[in-house]
Amino acid sequence: MTQPSSIPLQSPASEGGPSSPLPPVEGSAHTVMSARDLARHYTVSRGMLRPQAVVKALNGVSFDLQSGRTLAVVGESGCGKSTLARVLTLIETPTSGTLAIDATETTAAHADLKPLRARVQMVFQNPYASLNPRKTIGQTLDEPLAINTSLSQAERAGKIAAMMQTVGLRPEHVARYPHMFSGGQRQRVAIARAMILQPPIVVADEPVSALDVSIQAQILNLFMDLQERFATSYVFVSHNLAVVEHVADDVMVMYLGRAVEHGPKAAVFGKPLHPYTKALMSATPAIKPSERRVKIPLIGELPSPLRPPPGCAFAPRCPYAVDHCRQVVPQLRMLEGRLVACHRVEEIQG
Ligand SMILES: Nc1ncnc2c1ncn2[C@@H]1O[C@H](COP(=O)(O)OP(=O)(O)OP(=O)(O)O)[C@@H](O)[C@H]1O
Ligand SMILES: [Mg+2]
Repeated sequence: MTQPSSIPLQSPASEGGPSSPLPPVEGSAHTVMSARDLARHYTVSRGMLRPQAVVKALNGVSFDLQSGRTLAVVGESGCGKSTLARVLTLIETPTSGTLAIDATETTAAHADLKPLRARVQMVFQNPYASLNPRKTIGQTLDEPLAINTSLSQAERAGKIAAMMQTVGLRPEHVARYPHMFSGGQRQRVAIARAMILQPPIVVADEPVSALDVSIQAQILNLFMDLQERFATSYVFVSHNLAVVEHVADDVMVMYLGRAVEHGPKAAVFGKPLHPYTKALMSATPAIKPSERRVKIPLIGELPSPLRPPPGCAFAPRCPYAVDHCRQVVPQLRMLEGRLVACHRVEEIQG
């Protein structure tokens, strides 16, 4: 084992700093969303006579999202994926950090969020819970149009019919209620509602996890068809690496509120560098098992964000951890075409 003192520590400044996102992709794409050091902390009560505690659900996440591209966010249950999704869709305000949508700073003191809210829409995991059971599909799809546009009723009806056709719903479905649909159809309705204003950004939080496996591929393909058609950018949250591999352009692997590896899909899936990414991939046999050289078992559980370990949050579960890892938080740095936060990453490859 290498002594901690001999670990080459790169100064954050030499790599553009811990918050620097990936270099932008070549081409005509422009940045539609830009997050810097986003954090969301919750104060929770621990019972009478005990001081309140702080849950650092999201603890400093940065990225740039380009038009027409998909950033997939992956990680175990409780790592902060849904918290990130809620912050990105302006459902919650970040505790610190900044979020720009279309170059408008949403976290500025006097930011007008109403027009921005229409530009970033969310698709939830459970379409049954996210659709109003008392509204027909027509009413559900009409609502965003009536609030955000000055279209006439006939024009709105035309848009609704076109969007329903686009997502694979039949015209007669317009008068039906959510309970009259299958799970896959309901998710099509939820996607139609998210897409009806043609927002530049859609954040999808585990949008296929509640669906039958046979339906998942159809819904993923629908997401991809819609992206091609409308050049929508996606932040696509999933704990399922096979789903991520299907949809992502870029992948961000999260652990306890932070990104531990973040880069183009080809780099992260082709050669995962962080021990946690490797462990996640070892646990998913479907992902190119022939190319997997190192098997890392994912032992133990995600530590509580109420009591995060000092140093690297993954150290208690990492087979490569040394004292230095348990003392100093590793910052993201650029290596082999992606950002990775691991002190020992150069030493442990092979
Ligand atoms: N409103 C809240 N108050 C207190 N703690 C919260 C709140 N929302 C989330 N948390 C905590 O923040 C952490 C991250 O939760 P989050 O729901 O973002 O995880 P997740 O990655 O989406 O998990 P899953 O895969 O299970 O959906 C968890 O420890 C959770 O208990
Ligand atoms: Mg979640």
